[in-house]
Amino acid sequence: MTTHRIGVLGGDGIGPEVTAEGVKILRRAAELFGFGLDLVDYPFGADHCVKTKELIPDSAFSEIRQLDAVLLGAIGDPRFETGFLEFGIVGRLRFDLDLYVNLRPIKLYAEHLCPLKGKKPEHLDIVVVRENTEDAYRSKPRFENKGTPDEVAAQEMIYTRKGTERIIRYAYELAAARPRKKLTLVDKANAVRAHDLYRRVFDEVGREYPQVQKDNAFVDACCMWMVRNPEGFDTIVTTNMFGDIITDLGAVLQGGLGIAAGGNIHPGQVSVFEPIHGSAPKYKGQNKANPIAAILAGAMMLDHLGERDAAARIEQVVSDLLASGRIPSLQAGAMRTSEIGDLVAREAAAARSVGANP
Ligand code: IPM
Ligand code: MN
Repeated sequence: MTTHRIGVLGGDGIGPEVTAEGVKILRRAAELFGFGLDLVDYPFGADHCVKTKELIPDSAFSEIRQLDAVLLGAIGDPRFETGFLEFGIVGRLRFDLDLYVNLRPIKLYAEHLCPLKGKKPEHLDIVVVRENTEDAYRSKPRFENKGTPDEVAAQEMIYTRKGTERIIRYAYELAAARPRKKLTLVDKANAVRAHDLYRRVFDEVGREYPQVQKDNAFVDACCMWMVRNPEGFDTIVTTNMFGDIITDLGAVLQGGLGIAAGGNIHPGQVSVFEPIHGSAPKYKGQNKANPIAAILAGAMMLDHLGERDAAARIEQVVSDLLASGRIPSLQAGAMRTSEIGDLVAREAAAARSVGANP
C-alpha cells in the first residue's frame, strides 16, 4: 500500500476549520481507495507568530521538503501588516520550494452558481496555468523621497528565459492532454514590452506541439472575454500577477471564492494545495465557512499524488451535491462547515456502493 506523507497547515482565520473538512475527506478517500496517509500538522500562522516570533522555522521547512505534499488553509491576519504573513509563509513555500506552477481550474459545477446569464457547465471549463515564482512578486519595492511630494515607488516585473520556458512548456503539455487542445497566452505585450519574452517563447515551444491550437489575448481583453464568452478558453498560460487577477474573476464565474482551489506545483517534488480564498477572519471559529474549496484542493492534491480515481470521486460528489441543490449555496452560513464535510464524506462512500465511478 502506498502511503502519502502530507503536511497540514491550517493557518489563520477560517483556514483550520475548512482544512479539517479537507482532511476528513482525504481520510475517507484513503479508506475507500486503499492508500495510506501519514499526516503531519503544522501550527504556523498569525497566532504562532505572535507567540514565538517565528513564521516557518528552518527545521520545519527542511522537514516539509521531505513530504509528498502540503494542504494549506489560509494565511492572513489583520494584526499584521498586509503581506507580511502572506509573503513569509505562502510566498516562502512557493519560492523556496520552487513551486513554479500555480494551477487553477475554473469549472462550473452547477448552472445556478454562475452569475452570467445562460452559461451552463459546458460553457466554463478552463484551467489557468499561472507562473508562480517570478514577476513583481520577486522584486523588492523601492521608495525614494518617501512621504514627500516627490515620492517615487517602484517594483520591477522580472521574467527569466528559464522561468518563462518551463511554465509555457508545462501549459502546452497540459493543453495537449485535454480534449480541446487549445492554449491561450495571456499577457500585456502591447504595454509591458518585456512580455515580448513570453510571446517569443510561446511561439518557439509551440512548434513542438503542432496538435495544440494557439491563441493570444491581452489581459484586459481576456477579462472581457471571460465574462462574455468563457467557452472560448480552454487552457490559459499567464504571468504571476495576471494569473492572480484573472483567477479571482474565474472564481466568481464558478460561484465564488468558496469553491475555487489551486495547486502550487513543482512536478515530481513536494507541492502545496490550497483554497484560493483568504482567511476571512470575521467567520473564524463559527463553523460557517464553506469548506468546498479546501475539499477540492485536497482532491487536486490526490490527483497530483497519482490517486486519480479518488480525486475524480471527490470532484464528482461535490459536483453532484451542488448541481442537485443538496448543497444549495456557497454563501458562508448557508450550511455548517462540518455538515458539508460530513455530507461529502457520506456521499463519497455511497457512490462506491452503487457502483458509480468504477
Ligand atoms: C493568491 C493570493 C496571494 C497572491 C497573496 C495572498 C499574496 O492572492 O494566492 O492568489 O497574490 O498570490
Ligand atoms: Mn489572489
